[in-house]
Order: sequence, then structure tokens, then C-alpha cells
Amino acid sequence: MSVLIRRVREGDWRGCCAVEAACFPPDEAAEPDSVAERIRVFPQGFYVAEDISGTDSVIAGMINSGATSRNDITDEAFKKLVGHDPDGRNMVVFSLSVRPEWQGQGIARQLMERFVLESRTQGKACVLLLCKDFHIGFYEKLGFAHCGLSASTHGGAAWHEMRMRL
Ligand SMILES: CC(C)(COP(=O)(O)OP(=O)(O)OC[C@H]1O[C@@H](n2cnc3c(N)ncnc32)[C@H](O)[C@@H]1OP(=O)(O)O)[C@@H](O)C(=O)NCCC(=O)NCCS
Repeated sequence: MSVLIRRVREGDWRGCCAVEAACFPPDEAAEPDSVAERIRVFPQGFYVAEDISGTDSVIAGMINSGATSRNDITDEAFKKLVGHDPDGRNMVVFSLSVRPEWQGQGIARQLMERFVLESRTQGKACVLLLCKDFHIGFYEKLGFAHCGLSASTHGGAAWHEMRMRL
């Protein structure tokens, strides 16, 4: 397997929607329109893992985000980039996802490493995200600190806030 981590392009939309649909239940997956908006508005916060080993390349995983100077990241509308400020000091990860067939091979780690590098280069201060309890250990392995329960009750679930200082 040969995987290329690179910034998203407009033509990746279909592949990114396939990743989202394969990785999240329908009530949690971002709408195709939201994925398109994230690609169009903030490609500097959106990276894909492209499997280039076959004749047809496939988007195997992705990480996407918005930026804000606010510390409260519970606003659901922000995932549609309402209130997104490209010059904001915090990067907020909306989705880190790897298609099931490609999981367990270090692709999420590579995506996050690239994302962190690019965020530092852009002069950002922090990477923030919300996750469910079973992903706290995963994000800690990637360098995040657990900051406790978030005020968000999106989808009736409990969400934990994770933070990495850059
Ligand atoms: C979570 C997810 C992104 C991990 O992708 P992946 O490519 O399999 O992860 P990696 O192989 O890069 O794993 C990185 C490290 O985290 C560990 N890890 C992976 N999933 C884990 C989990 N659920 N809990 C704890 N650790 C985990 C790996 O063992 C690895 O550790 P190591 O480097 O010490 O060996 C993937 O399972 C996924 O897309 N899930 C569905 C979408 C989702 O829930 N995303 C996260 C919330 S937005």
C-alpha cells in the first residue's frame, strides 16, 4: 500500500463523501453539501490520504476543520462554517476518518501529523476537537490533552473536549 497525504482538491468531493458515509452513522455524517463547503472555503484545513497503489486512486481517509478565535466550539452551525474565521487562532477538527478497509495502518496518525504541521506553519495556537469517551485514548496517543466534558449534547451523546497546544 502506498498512501499520499496531501491538501484536498475540489475533485476529491465524491471520495470525501464516501469516506464520511463509510465512517459515521447517517445521523452523525456530514451532509455532502457541508463536505463541499469545507473543501471550497477552507482547503488549508483539509487534508486527504490518497491510496495511490492501484490503477484507480482512492481517498482512504481525511481530516477537515474550521478556524476560530473563540474557545467555545460547541456551536453546531460552526460545522457548516458559520462563524469560521480563517485567521482565527484555533483550528477545530470536525472529522478525522479512515475508511474501515484502511484502518489500523497509521493513516489517521499521518493525517493528524500533517494537519498539525500545517497548522503550526499557519501560526495557529491550538487544535481543538470534541470526541466521544471511547476516542479519548486515541487522541491522547496523537498528542492531545483531555480537557473534560463539553457542554455539547449533540445527538444526545456526551462529548469530551480535547486540546493540543501548537
Ligand atoms: C478513529 C480512526 C480515525 C482511527 O484511524 P486509523 O487510521 O485506524 O488510526 P491509526 O492506525 O493511525 O492509529 C493511531 C494510533 O491510535 C490507536 N488507536 C486507533 N483507534 C483507537 C481507538 N479507538 N482507541 C484508542 N486507540 C486507538 C492505534 O492503535 C495507534 O496507536 P499506535 O500508534 O500506538 O500503534 C478510525 O477508526 C475511524 O475513522 N473511525 C470512524 C470515524 C471516527 O469515529 N473518527 C473519530 C472521531 S471524529
